[in-house]
Amino acid sequence: MTTTDNSGDVRLSGIGKTYGSFTAVHPLDLTVPQGSFFALLGASGCGKTTTLRMIAGLEEPTQGTVHLGDQDVTHLPPYKRPVNTVFQSYALFPHLDIFENVAFGLRRRGIKSVKKQVEEMLELVQLGEQARKKPHQLSGGQQQRVAVARALINHPKVLLLDEPLGALDLKLRRQMQLELKRIQTEVGITFVHVTHDQEEAMTMADTVAVMNAGRVEQLGSPADLYENPGTTFVANFLGTSNLIEAEVDSTSGDDLVLKAGGGKLVLPRARCSAPATAGGKVLVGVRPEKISLTHADDAGEIPEGRNRLTGKIADASFIGVSTQYVVESPVCDELAVYVQNVERDGRLVPGADVVLHWSPAHTFGLDAAQDIDAGVETLEEEAA
Ligand SMILES: Nc1ncnc2c1ncn2[C@@H]1O[C@H](COP(=O)(O)OP(=O)(O)OP(=O)(O)O)[C@@H](O)[C@H]1O
Ligand SMILES: [Mg+2]
Repeated sequence: MTTTDNSGDVRLSGIGKTYGSFTAVHPLDLTVPQGSFFALLGASGCGKTTTLRMIAGLEEPTQGTVHLGDQDVTHLPPYKRPVNTVFQSYALFPHLDIFENVAFGLRRRGIKSVKKQVEEMLELVQLGEQARKKPHQLSGGQQQRVAVARALINHPKVLLLDEPLGALDLKLRRQMQLELKRIQTEVGITFVHVTHDQEEAMTMADTVAVMNAGRVEQLGSPADLYENPGTTFVANFLGTSNLIEAEVDSTSGDDLVLKAGGGKLVLPRARCSAPATAGGKVLVGVRPEKISLTHADDAGEIPEGRNRLTGKIADASFIGVSTQYVVESPVCDELAVYVQNVERDGRLVPGADVVLHWSPAHTFGLDAAQDIDAGVETLEEEAA
């Protein structure tokens, strides 16, 4: 692969899809660079599959164009696009053994000597030993690897994966995430992976597009999205965020000084995506693992220059690597705080008065005109 080869770029320009009066995908522009692992992440119904199917040619866009490299493929049928898709249901041929399942694409194109290529593919997905088994004799994860091998043997420029790990249990999912990432790195082709699992997207992808209601809400590397969410939806959907309503009090150099329930909080202006003028409202965000907890009796020991809030521990769950606290505070009734299990302060139990404190550099600011709970996973959704 050379850096000038862009034949595996996926370029969507103004692509959109409506069904009658319903808009499944609002016109969007998106470029997936050749050789990258790209994830489309979002809740059920946000338009991930529809977007993927438009790339594959399985769905005709209502508007816009799809390019693969320099080629406009918008009106090409699926089989003429250098693209293969792996779906959640592996759809292997039950009567064919693993070798023949993988060989299928080659045989269909009339290629006779398939042995070497199939064996290489089976090695790639670490199933060399299983070649003569039938699909039902393999585990779900192994079957899904066969599906990946069967798609890759066609040498697509782009592999599309629609929730390919959705049917697997959690442990196998985690293994397969690393496995797919390894395969992608090894073959170097462009992967576009659809998932509603934020951990999965962050583990695997170089770039994640967070979709919400038919729109790409934010695009970036996993770390960038996590550290600098631009909307409440992204802040809540990717991991957990504490969001606090605050008012801009004044500015001081590169910082904004905010008022939140009696106290003051400092927010670097560069980390505030909302227009901030004195008297205006801002949502202040901080991730749970960025916050330290100090018992109120020791409040004097907290270094200067940290943002602080007072509160009372409402709940503490010990989960091994960390303890997850829920803290009630005058500015927010449920603040999440994750404390690494290094030295445990035995006084930090429900009912204890505490000070929460963190570095201003770990604070982000969002437009207060948004729904503060957008993207929060409800128990019902989690159970689904
Ligand atoms: N053929 C269709 N006719 C009408 N509406 C459709 C059609 N296909 C999809 N939709 C609607 O478009 C929206 C987006 O669907 P899509 O399948 O892209 O969602 P998704 O993000 O893949 O969701 P999931 O995570 O549940 O698979 C949904 O509201 C869906 O009901
Ligand atoms: Mg889908």
